[in-house]
Amino acid sequence: MAFPKPSLVLCSVLTLLSLNRGPSHVSAKVYMVVMEDDPVVSYKASRKGVMRGEEAQKYKEMSTTKHDAFLESFLTVGSYKKLYSYTHLLNGFAVHANSEKAAKILRGAKGVRLVQEDIKMAKMTTYTPKYIGASGVWPLLGGAENSGDGIVIGMIDTGIDPQNPSFASFSNQSKQPPSNFKGMCRSGDRFPPDSCNGKIVGARWFARAGQATGEFNATIHYASPYDPDGHGSHTASTAAGNFHTPAVSRGYNFGYASGMAPGARLAIYKAAYPFGGYMSDVIAAVDQAVEDGVDVISLSMAPSSVSPGPAAFLNLLETQLLLATKAGVSVVQAVGNGGPDASSVVSFSPWITSVAASTTDRKYNKTIVAGNGQIFSCGGLSPPTPGDTMYPLALADDVSTDNSTDGSNGCQDPKVFIRSLVQGKVIVCMIVSSNYYQGDNFAGIIDTIQKIGAAGVVIIDRYSGDVDYEYQSIFPTVVPSAMVVDGVDMMNLMEYYENNTARDGDGTVITFGATVRILEGRRASYSGERPEVADYSSRGPNIENAQMQLADVLKPNVMAPGHHIWGAWSPTSDALPEVQGESYAILSGTSMSTPHVAGVVALIKQRHPKWSPAMIMSAIMTTADVTDRSGRPLMARRDVGAVVAATPFDMGAGAINAARALDPGLVFDATYRDYLQFLCAVPGVDEAAVRRAVGASCPTSRARWCSDLNAPSVTVASLVGSRRVDRKVWSVAAENETYMAYVRAPDGVAVRVSPDEFTVAPGETAALRIVLNTTAPGNAFSFGEVVLRGDKKHSVRIPLAVYPAAVLSGP
Ligand SMILES: *[C@@H]1O[C@H](CO)[C@@H](O)[C@H](O)[C@H]1NC(C)=O
Ligand SMILES: *[C@@H]1O[C@H](CO)[C@@H](O)[C@H](O)[C@H]1NC(C)=O
Ligand SMILES: *[C@@H]1O[C@H](CO)[C@@H](O)[C@H](O)[C@H]1NC(C)=O
Ligand SMILES: *[C@@H]1O[C@H](CO)[C@@H](O)[C@H](O)[C@H]1NC(C)=O
Ligand SMILES: *[C@@H]1O[C@H](CO)[C@@H](O)[C@H](O)[C@H]1NC(C)=O
Ligand SMILES: *[C@@H]1O[C@H](CO)[C@@H](O)[C@H](O)[C@H]1NC(C)=O
Ligand SMILES: *[C@@H]1O[C@H](CO)[C@@H](O)[C@H](O)[C@H]1NC(C)=O
Repeated sequence: MAFPKPSLVLCSVLTLLSLNRGPSHVSAKVYMVVMEDDPVVSYKASRKGVMRGEEAQKYKEMSTTKHDAFLESFLTVGSYKKLYSYTHLLNGFAVHANSEKAAKILRGAKGVRLVQEDIKMAKMTTYTPKYIGASGVWPLLGGAENSGDGIVIGMIDTGIDPQNPSFASFSNQSKQPPSNFKGMCRSGDRFPPDSCNGKIVGARWFARAGQATGEFNATIHYASPYDPDGHGSHTASTAAGNFHTPAVSRGYNFGYASGMAPGARLAIYKAAYPFGGYMSDVIAAVDQAVEDGVDVISLSMAPSSVSPGPAAFLNLLETQLLLATKAGVSVVQAVGNGGPDASSVVSFSPWITSVAASTTDRKYNKTIVAGNGQIFSCGGLSPPTPGDTMYPLALADDVSTDNSTDGSNGCQDPKVFIRSLVQGKVIVCMIVSSNYYQGDNFAGIIDTIQKIGAAGVVIIDRYSGDVDYEYQSIFPTVVPSAMVVDGVDMMNLMEYYENNTARDGDGTVITFGATVRILEGRRASYSGERPEVADYSSRGPNIENAQMQLADVLKPNVMAPGHHIWGAWSPTSDALPEVQGESYAILSGTSMSTPHVAGVVALIKQRHPKWSPAMIMSAIMTTADVTDRSGRPLMARRDVGAVVAATPFDMGAGAINAARALDPGLVFDATYRDYLQFLCAVPGVDEAAVRRAVGASCPTSRARWCSDLNAPSVTVASLVGSRRVDRKVWSVAAENETYMAYVRAPDGVAVRVSPDEFTVAPGETAALRIVLNTTAPGNAFSFGEVVLRGDKKHSVRIPLAVYPAAVLSGP
């Protein structure tokens, strides 16, 4: 596919991936070491359950001292530097050591459970509250300002700009963080002590791995929680930005932005940077966030590659997130921007809510009208050319002296333009490089047009490969601008130009006869169109290990808006020259869809404080929409221009519906023990591997298959003959409800649900058995669903993804 330049995030992922090799000249490496000793959360000596307060602090200090002593006894002084001690969820440390030998020594040392080399993490780079139904439930939760109140969302990202209006303290917002939150605020460069203002309740930063590799530079990355990138401010504003904050960019108010849970508080854990991030920093951030007492973790980041090992579920970050879940913290993570390729997900485990990205129905309509009456529909968030007048059109080459380089003027240099010729004209500039992000093309063009004082610019992008306008990156500009990417439009416009331009013998233009008008392009319209899975959103099936074996776990879990999302931005960031200096920007990616879901989790948690992370995930998944309001199925972009019916591998259980997620009727719960059983059932994973990863043994009652986990979905990557899948639902409704099971079987599979009708009282559970039989083996997954419809209006949808491999043979 032609590389579209749709999303910043996409772009930042690509650059990060290329950075993945890291500074190869540095032989020193960072290792994360997990010890046999208990972390604070599972320390058994305390009789009163989890240690708290002074007792926990003492244990933390003791563990830290032990780590130091351990390192001293095994490694030579000066050959290593300890970066972190992990003490809350994990008992271990990160160490920067300058020889492979150190890793070998540590691996063999008594008391060490696991050693993992550090790996690079990548970022997966506002009207949306209404689109997903969040604003519809705000009245239930005490109004917008109070929606999410008492809930703390931990943002593990690039930090935050505390000056942004989305994070200002409201007048009547309590300055005190919720009582169960124990986080603190680290002040520093561009992050004064009053940055923690009641909206922001905690802020810390983690950069020791980045410092060890030499990539962290305090001058540009700030030794404080300040966001040098913009990504972290953007995601934080989506999750819990203040209600009704004007999103102003390039001097124009594009509308009012609001987070999904405008009353929730934000705890900031800066662990990613313009250069990416390291798992050892992220793990330190997660450990701290859980210790501080956040309710939700929003993680718009994932490892750049599947880490080697027996199972993706057992990599250190995934298992740490399992321990976070065990501690009652919901974890929401971007599913990745590797779509539309199959098995491109980078968030794997069933305890994580992995989020796909969709479009929304907001459209910006930019039109140019030519003198011959032709109308071109373009991209561009810009004002119109003044008045009703038509403006002469001029090709940049025809009004400049520069034809020296490659014969085309890329409009990057104001000096070559002949000022007398550009006055009052709309200039046609070409994107001259196939790599849009090389050389600041777009920003350079706009800057040039502003400097030469032309009336406007039409940008022709021959490299876009006919990507439609919906997929353009859109950046507000002060000069009237329009971007043409459609091949036929380009031809027509240029033909019109040439037909009406008179030239002398050597090609110099004598009269500019072609004219255009650029119309207003900054007003959004809302088409009511159904969301589509964005083409870059990573797809299932989920993979189990580096050998790409398929897992019996559905990924993504759910979909939320991620394409062209307005959110807060850091004015000092130079990540995007197009929006430099602004406080709001449009970004795209699964990075943007993730905080939408984290915000909804906060709303659910406020309403149902006792629900476990698994119950919250279940509520979100079983109530998601798979059709639009008129019943048409949701669609997925599989490649540029190709739109097909979306499957659970594109959108998970469907598009998040906040209103329904607050009242799901039934939920599927899963405990830590259930997840251990799951891990012990992963093919190729033995008990020793599970023990190394999580420090616990397999439960005595073993699950046979991964599909036995009590998940709100059923995935069977290889159905040979018959598989029985048992589920248990728990009523969270207010009254008795009788459910009927409706089945849509995947092609090639027979499905029976029993009982097909059951009544369940509030707080009671019901057992459900789903039997799947291959009837016609195929060579692909096929999809279906079980829908439990209650007589009190609840509807619980369980997606089925089954690969019918073989019919059971013989007796
Ligand atoms: C908070 O203040 C805003 C504006 O001053 C007001 O509209 C809102 O009702 C107040 N909320 C509460 C819960 O007092
Ligand atoms: C850090 O960044 C500043 C500003 O770009 C630069 O001048 C300085 O040389 C950098 N320092 C290092 C150690 O790279
Ligand atoms: C876009 O704007 C033009 C000019 O105002 C109008 O003719 C056209 O119908 C609009 N298109 C859409 C899709 O709204
Ligand atoms: C550029 O084009 C002009 C005619 O438009 C010509 O006179 C001049 O020699 C050209 N310069 C170069 C460096 O080719
Ligand atoms: C340009 O002129 C040619 C020849 O006169 C004509 O066929 C064509 O339709 C014109 N195109 C435009 C866009 O005016
Ligand atoms: C599935 O196969 C089993 C064993 O062959 C059989 O007993 C059962 O009735 C079948 N169920 C369905 C739904 O076809
Ligand atoms: C709800 O169901 C329980 C049994 O599960 C029954 O005892 C109770 O009477 C029922 N309540 C109503 C209002 O039907």
